[in-house]
Amino acid sequence: MAKYLVTGAAGFIGRSISAALLKRGDSVRGVDSFITGKRANLTGLEAMEFIEGDLADPAVCAKACAGVEVVYHEAALASVPRSVADPAATNRNCVDATVNVLVAARAAGVRRVMYAGSSSGYGDTPTLPKREDMLPNPISPYAVAKLAGEHYMSAFTRVYGLETVTLRYFNVFGPFQDPTSHYSGVLAIFCRKMLAGEQPTIYGDGEHSRDFTYIENVVAANLLAADAPVEKVSGKMMNVATGAAVTLNQVFEILRGLTGYNGKPAYAEPRSGDIKHSLADISRARELLGYVPQVDFREGIRRTVEWYKTSQPNS
Ligand code: UD1
Repeated sequence: MAKYLVTGAAGFIGRSISAALLKRGDSVRGVDSFITGKRANLTGLEAMEFIEGDLADPAVCAKACAGVEVVYHEAALASVPRSVADPAATNRNCVDATVNVLVAARAAGVRRVMYAGSSSGYGDTPTLPKREDMLPNPISPYAVAKLAGEHYMSAFTRVYGLETVTLRYFNVFGPFQDPTSHYSGVLAIFCRKMLAGEQPTIYGDGEHSRDFTYIENVVAANLLAADAPVEKVSGKMMNVATGAAVTLNQVFEILRGLTGYNGKPAYAEPRSGDIKHSLADISRARELLGYVPQVDFREGIRRTVEWYKTSQPNS
């Protein structure tokens, strides 16, 4: 019987957490609908028990949660522009799925659920860095959906006593992130394009910035969160980031050096629902989890470019 359940196990973050748990010798069950997850991402995770299914179906959630002690709920329909194009799909795959996972986790006697929160919940408020005690101000359907999930987490802790921990991720990047969709994260898109000698497009003037967080830091925070003392973390939300921001223009210059691309970026209109700056205060995660980012942006992007150089885009 698996001890850990990872939802979205064929996605970028879920895959990475699953791999770390297996490497540690733990028993893992993964679930994925392959709406955005990739079968190719399961390569190397053969020791994981796997269920193909959609978490919007309560029966899938019940089967997935049966007998497990800890759930990493990473499944989502990520992407701000995708949610602008189809808010109902985002709601179904983020909100309905999350409620179903929580109901099933409670029924199965799961001890703790970790939830992939999103920095988008802060919205476009001017104050930086973002601290967890700031009022949320979601400005896209995606941000609303991820934030609703956070509130469901803390409500299930208060109302039912289920242990939950929300990790509010800031622009995660690294190996296995899908570079092939126009809904992909910007770093995956830029790496793929610039390595192929194609011109990347910067939406806006390129002076907007993000606290880009290398995947290894996110995995480490998740492993810490599962074992942190209940009285410290249960029902809480905390930022997981690096605490440093880079602009899109800086990203382009760094990638130019790493990929050998020698053109210029194209500039286009800013994207609807986009926020200008995003930077985290990470002191709460340090205090509650002992989280300290081990890989900074430059090292993370170097490793990521190396990975894209040697790996085919996911199919
Ligand atoms: C948002 C959330 C993040 C969430 C992610 C899911 C914020 C601050 N962050 O990320 O928590 O996990 O959605 O997808 O809201 N861009 C370009 N050219 C491109 C692609 C993107 O210039 O080809 C720009 C975007 O306009 C944006 C930035 O790069 O300003 C980052 O975009 P993206 O990687 O999609 O992530 P966010 O929307 O910031």
